[in-house]
Order: sequence, then C-alpha cells, then structure tokens
Amino acid sequence: MAPITFVVNGKSRTVTDAPDTPLLWVLRDSLGLTGTKFGCGIAQCGACTVHLDGVATRSCVTPVAAVAGKRVTTIEGLSANRSHRVQKAWIAEDVPQCGYCQSGQLMAAAALLATNPHPSDADIDAAMTNICRCGTYQRIRAAIHRAAQEA
Ligand code: FES
Ligand code: FES
Repeated sequence: MAPITFVVNGKSRTVTDAPDTPLLWVLRDSLGLTGTKFGCGIAQCGACTVHLDGVATRSCVTPVAAVAGKRVTTIEGLSANRSHRVQKAWIAEDVPQCGYCQSGQLMAAAALLATNPHPSDADIDAAMTNICRCGTYQRIRAAIHRAAQEA
C-alpha cells in the first residue's frame, strides 16, 4: 500500500495500511495507541473520539486516507502527565466508573472547551453526544464546568 503520512500527538508517522482502513484501527493496531476505544464502529457512541486538526472526530468511521497531512491527537497526546485541565477536572470529580468510554469523553470535552470556554448545561448536552453505559453524565457535566473555571 502507498504510504500515508500524518502527525500523531506531535510526531510525524507514516503507515502502509489500506487507505480505507478506519483511523481507529491504524491508531490501535499499527501505532499501538490503545487509549482510543472501539464501541460501535458506526459513529454512534463516541468511544473512538480523537481530535483531527483540533476537531472532535469519530475515528471508527474516518478512513486513514482522509487524515493524510493532518494533525491527529489521541488521549495519549492530550497532555504529557495528565495535566490537561479536563484530566484534572475528571480526577477531581471522580468521573469514571468502568472507564471504557472515558477517553472519548475527555477528547470530546477538550474539543468543546477549546471552542466554547464557558459552556452552559445546554451547550454541554448538545456537544457531548458520547454514550456512557455507566451513566456518568452528571459527573461529566460537573467536570466540564470545573475545567472551564481553570481557563
Ligand atoms: S466506536 Fe466510533 S462512534 Fe462508536
Ligand atoms: S464509565 Fe463505563 S461506559 Fe462510561
């Protein structure tokens, strides 16, 4: 396969996966970045959320060819040491239960705060469409408000 080059967490990476391979599997299987999770595979749950040029994107339905030359950030690249304000707020609010959905939730929240530094409850509900089977939605909302205070 023709090589595809893009930037992942600040580093240029080149892969030779088939161009229609979902970015999710390239990240997990070819690049070993397993913090991004598979939930549904059909853009419904958000477990696979990463940032593509800063925009929250569902990597399970994003062919790797579509990210050539672009900048991808995964949960591993959100900060070097859990110091991103959403990570600190998530810890302070004790958000996760099983944890499976949470990397996607964090990436969605970080993207929301980057464009809307002080979101209302309605803004959060509209932007945070990721599914949590454990029902941590109230703590997610509290953590986003807490993170917004640190802006
Ligand atoms: S795995 Fe991508 S949205 Fe569910
Ligand atoms: S914390 Fe379990 S699915 Fe969200």
